[in-house]
Amino acid sequence: MRSRTTSLRDQGAIPGLRAERQRWLERFLTVRAETEARAAPLSAEDQIVQSMPDASPTKWHRAHVTWFFETFLLVPHAPDYRIFDERFPFLFNSYYVAAGPRHARPQRGLITRPNAAQVSAYRKHVDRAVVRLIESADRATCDVIFPIIEIGLNHEQQHQELLLTDILHAFAQNPIAPAYDPDWIMPAATAGDARFVEVPAGVHLVGHDGAGFHFDNERPQHRTLTQPMRIGQALVTNAQWFDFIADGGYTTPSLWLSDGWAMREAQDWAAPGYWRQRDGVWSSMTLGGLRAVDPNAPVMHVSYYEADAFARWAGKHLPTEFEWEVAARHDLIDDAFGIVWQWTRSAYLPYPGYRAPEGAIGEYNGKFMINQMVLRGSSLATPEGHARLSYRNFFYPAARWQFTGLRLVEYV
Ligand SMILES: [Fe+2]
Repeated sequence: MRSRTTSLRDQGAIPGLRAERQRWLERFLTVRAETEARAAPLSAEDQIVQSMPDASPTKWHRAHVTWFFETFLLVPHAPDYRIFDERFPFLFNSYYVAAGPRHARPQRGLITRPNAAQVSAYRKHVDRAVVRLIESADRATCDVIFPIIEIGLNHEQQHQELLLTDILHAFAQNPIAPAYDPDWIMPAATAGDARFVEVPAGVHLVGHDGAGFHFDNERPQHRTLTQPMRIGQALVTNAQWFDFIADGGYTTPSLWLSDGWAMREAQDWAAPGYWRQRDGVWSSMTLGGLRAVDPNAPVMHVSYYEADAFARWAGKHLPTEFEWEVAARHDLIDDAFGIVWQWTRSAYLPYPGYRAPEGAIGEYNGKFMINQMVLRGSSLATPEGHARLSYRNFFYPAARWQFTGLRLVEYV
């Protein structure tokens, strides 16, 4: 009887584990393939360039996400794993102090070797080892490695978005304005008037409830108080930005924060990032090359400083990240996801009681919780299934190379 019970339990456990392995294999290979699909239109030369310290070369992104799996998954958990090249961790560690020394970020574009083909070989080496590990690890090891694979895949998806924003910035520096994809189409915003809709005032739960994948910065879930207010159902459009420009938005210091005005002067901002004016007509650098600015499309490539100045000019405000989340949870806003990340007026801070996890992974989010602003939603470059209602993106207030836009709120 005992042996029969054991046997039945084993029969139950093995198919369960087999299905889990299969699921993780598929997810791993799908996400890894998406990175390569995004890099595929780019030549080896394209993949080297670093157009500013904040942006990284395509080749670096492809290698860095691979290093993440090698360092945090394979080295500690795959007993027979052989490091592909002992020199690579120094080149492809981003900011993990606990994982060892690293090459200076602003100099990533100087690395012509390893070349793109060698990075492809590095990816294949790590892919093979991860597949082997998923297929062979015992139950106890699987319980440890699946969560690491999950964070590794979510990490890789973040770099998939950066791969596009960074190459767009590089191409925008090129006088011939190359197209990443000549057939690229800007996703259409939901048609509708610029209505402001009431957000329920009172106490609301915000943050992730802990079920399913989330980053540490989305927890703990906690209560927040929203004031009586209305939120813009639609994203702010290019047409509205034309009015802001025409009304002296970029030449009126009283509309701007002091740091923002200093940045506007230093960078000579007179329009959103990538906008160019010729014979009175505005065009913008996009993933499809130089295109006319569509008045009906949401504005993008604006910094926090510009979004803040626009809100002041409009006589309204940017939402806090919690107001945004409450509105999105009540399904009050259009285009919360998939077009532009939306600036909020919330500083990127830890939630009440937040502690960064132990070890190198603890460096993922927590140490950046100063001097940056939170963006909510997701953009046209965000991989399918990556974002969620509690997702917190964050950038410095002067950043314009991401797909960043805004919506407004008013208080009643
Ligand atoms: Fe990274």
